[in-house]
Amino acid sequence: MNLPDLKEAKKRTDIKVTEKQVNYHFPSAFIGKKYFLRTYGCQMNVHDSEEIKKYLEMLGFTETTILEESDLVVLNTCAIRENAHDKVFGYLGRCKHLKREKPELLIAIGGCMSQEENVVEEIKTKHPYVDIVFGTHNISELPKLLLEKKDKQQIEVYSIEGDVYEGIQYSRDSKITAWVDIMYGCDKFCTYCIVPYTRGKERSRKLENIVVEVEELKQNGYKEVTLLGQNVNAYGRDLNLGYDFKDLLEKVALTGIERVRFVTSHPWNFTSEMIDVIAKYDNIMPYIHLPLQSGSDAILKLMGRRYTKEEYISLFHSIKEKIPNVSITTDIIVGFPNETEEDFLETLDVVNTCKFDSAFTFIYSPREGTPASLIKDNVTMKTKESRLRRLNELVNAYSLEANKRLVGSIVPVLILGENEKDKKRIYGYTDTMKLVNIDGGHDLIGKIVQVKIIDAKSFSLDGETEKVGEAI
Ligand code: 5AD
Ligand code: SF4
Repeated sequence: MNLPDLKEAKKRTDIKVTEKQVNYHFPSAFIGKKYFLRTYGCQMNVHDSEEIKKYLEMLGFTETTILEESDLVVLNTCAIRENAHDKVFGYLGRCKHLKREKPELLIAIGGCMSQEENVVEEIKTKHPYVDIVFGTHNISELPKLLLEKKDKQQIEVYSIEGDVYEGIQYSRDSKITAWVDIMYGCDKFCTYCIVPYTRGKERSRKLENIVVEVEELKQNGYKEVTLLGQNVNAYGRDLNLGYDFKDLLEKVALTGIERVRFVTSHPWNFTSEMIDVIAKYDNIMPYIHLPLQSGSDAILKLMGRRYTKEEYISLFHSIKEKIPNVSITTDIIVGFPNETEEDFLETLDVVNTCKFDSAFTFIYSPREGTPASLIKDNVTMKTKESRLRRLNELVNAYSLEANKRLVGSIVPVLILGENEKDKKRIYGYTDTMKLVNIDGGHDLIGKIVQVKIIDAKSFSLDGETEKVGEAI
């Protein structure tokens, strides 16, 4: 075990990043056994889980969605806010209970929480029934840990990232849309955020490897790729090979895959050249997730966000001007330490100016080891909750307004599948990433079809295909 020291992480300059191929030479020692995998958190984790699944399936496991049926439980955890921790430990309670009845059950914990020293200590002292703890930098070691399973708890977490793995295979959840990692980690060190500590420094994959992966996905019938990074516009900077995110976007668009998306963009180094590339290619979707976090300059400074309210709004407008019909969504945190009513009103002012298509809103949650956790949190929970409520009301009103504007129009929708709650319906996403539900048309799954929008809610649209014509 080599655990990271959160406070030291920012100072690390000595990490030598190397490219390594994943080793898939291991026996199928678990044929007939079942795994249950639960994923918490962001798209990165969802995609990491697709990697975990592949290893488990190569080892012989098959997936079950029923916890009680499983021989192995894997929890792929998130550390971004305190409630993510609480959810994992709550679920672990269920697993512990099951293990009492079924002592041979294996329990493994991976993901961002495993990278936190205090969490590992807690697992060691309070949860000895957990068999394996692995980190975000050594997912590919999970087969080894399972094959060499010892009687005592195995904790294998690396503090130093070091390697960018190539040749990773995935058991992908969809045959239509695929996640593609373009870089790992984050160097922004926003003062509230634990990600730079749990995911390490920015490490980009080489452009040619990413393009080959997208070409293969296209050949295998995938219609859409989403390029993944904590801060995609930092792509390539660590490599010093003379290319950056706009070059990657362009090369990926030129593969001819039908839809290209990317998350997440930081407003700080979003260049006008990037906007131009997004505007130039029809297969780069007009959708940008652009986290604001706060509209107050004082709070943005405390958060270490590197832009002002005015700079954010000006970037927002230049994106809107250059990319027709673009939809922009955001993340906002309320109740950061020292946030006054005036600061909060500045945030509402940006929402009123930008009228985001939608927003993810959060109450600030102090994370141990981050600089913000050392600032006295002088905003009461009652105030935080009330600000969140007020913000959500405004954000939802604008989402509804944006959705209502689409009623009566015909938009391209990539149909992803059957609606889980209502099997008679199908669902898909517009180019601008809006969820559309449609009656019938199951034969359209996997196709991009023109859909007439007939009704709008805050979080989804209703559409119909019949009167619009053939699938394209
Ligand atoms: N407290 C609350 N929200 C947070 N986020 C990140 N860290 C914290 C935190 N400590 C939010 C940010 C980020 C999103 C993924 O989660 O808004 O963009
Ligand atoms: Fe966290 Fe995003 Fe800031 Fe990186 S850019 S530190 S992931 S909020």
